[in-house]
This record gives sequence, C-alpha cells and structure tokens, in this order.
Amino acid sequence: MITVLRLGHRAGRDPRISTHCALVARALGAGKLIYTGEHDGGMEASVKKIVGNWGGPFEISHEKSWRKVVREFPGKSVHLTMYGLPLNKEIPKIRKAKDVLVVIGGEKVPMEVYHAVDYNIGVTSQPHSEVAALGIFLNEYSRGKCLDRKFKDAKISLVPQKCGKKIIS
Ligand SMILES: C[S@@+](CC[C@H](N)C(=O)[O-])C[C@H]1O[C@@H](n2cnc3c(N)ncnc32)[C@H](O)[C@@H]1O
Repeated sequence: MITVLRLGHRAGRDPRISTHCALVARALGAGKLIYTGEHDGGMEASVKKIVGNWGGPFEISHEKSWRKVVREFPGKSVHLTMYGLPLNKEIPKIRKAKDVLVVIGGEKVPMEVYHAVDYNIGVTSQPHSEVAALGIFLNEYSRGKCLDRKFKDAKISLVPQKCGKKIIS
C-alpha cells in the first residue's frame, strides 16, 4: 500500500493544493494521505466528499508529528525533493518495497526529514510542485498501471467519451 505524507499544511493558505495532493494520491494508487501542520476539517471534508461520490478506498487523517509517521511506517519512506537522486535511476529499488510512504513538502522542509527517510528522490532537479512530483512518482512506481485504477462503492462514475460528457449515477 502507498501512503502519502504531506508536510506542513497551512489551513489558511494551502487547502487547495493539499486537496489536490489528496486527489492525485487517490486517483493514482495511494490508499491514504496523512498531513501534518495545521488541522483542517474543511479540507478533510472536501476530500471525504469526493471519496464518498467517486469511490475508494482512500483515507485522510491529520498527525501532529511527521517524525512519528516516518519512524513507525513499516515499509520504505521516499521523500520527493528536487535535491534528491534521479527518479529513473532509483525507482527499481523502491519498487521492491511492498509498502511505501511518499513524503511531499510544502514551503520549507526541515533537513531532519532528509536524514529520517530511506530515499530522497528528485522528479527532475528543477523546482516545480508537490502535486506534479507526486503524480509522476506514482505513475512511474506503478509503471503506468495506476492510470487504470478501479474504485469501490462509487456513487458517480464516468464513461470515457471521444467527445462530450457521460456520467453514470
Ligand atoms: C514549493 S516546492 C519546494 C521545492 C523544494 N525546494 C524542494 O526541495 O523540492 C514543495 C514541494 O514540492 C515537491 N517538489 C518540487 N519540485 C520537486 C522536484 N523536482 N522533485 C521532487 N519533488 C519536488 C517537494 O516535495 C517539495 O517539498
């Protein structure tokens, strides 16, 4: 199972980007997103509403301490950072782990995180976004299979169309 750990959420400034991290995590194969920083009931509710409508399984929860999450995680932890080693080179080793904790930052990531994890991985060595880094990592980790993920207990789903929109309730 893949768990995503989103660091340093700020309730006033980050709800949109943290929601996008959760939606990308869910859509592309993760089973859970844990976030640290400020607790944000509104952000959690919007993610849970999407899971309720579009299916799961997917959980979201808040933790005070990222250290505890990383320390107690039973598999391998992978911190996504532009400073890390190249994704293409390291991904074969990471794929051997059954459970993976993908750590994504926000504004500033403490150096302690770099030392606490098993891998620091760059999705290119250029600055971009936690949403993009997470999406590309999940796609590469699954060798593209995450694009066909199926969801359970969905109230809504789509029938892909060449043109137009077809929704089944
Ligand atoms: C606003 S960016 C900060 C960029 C940051 N200086 C870094 O270490 O990657 C927020 C988050 O996006 C992710 N991120 C941005 N660019 C990345 C890259 N090239 N590779 C992997 N992750 C990246 C990291 O998780 C980072 O903590």
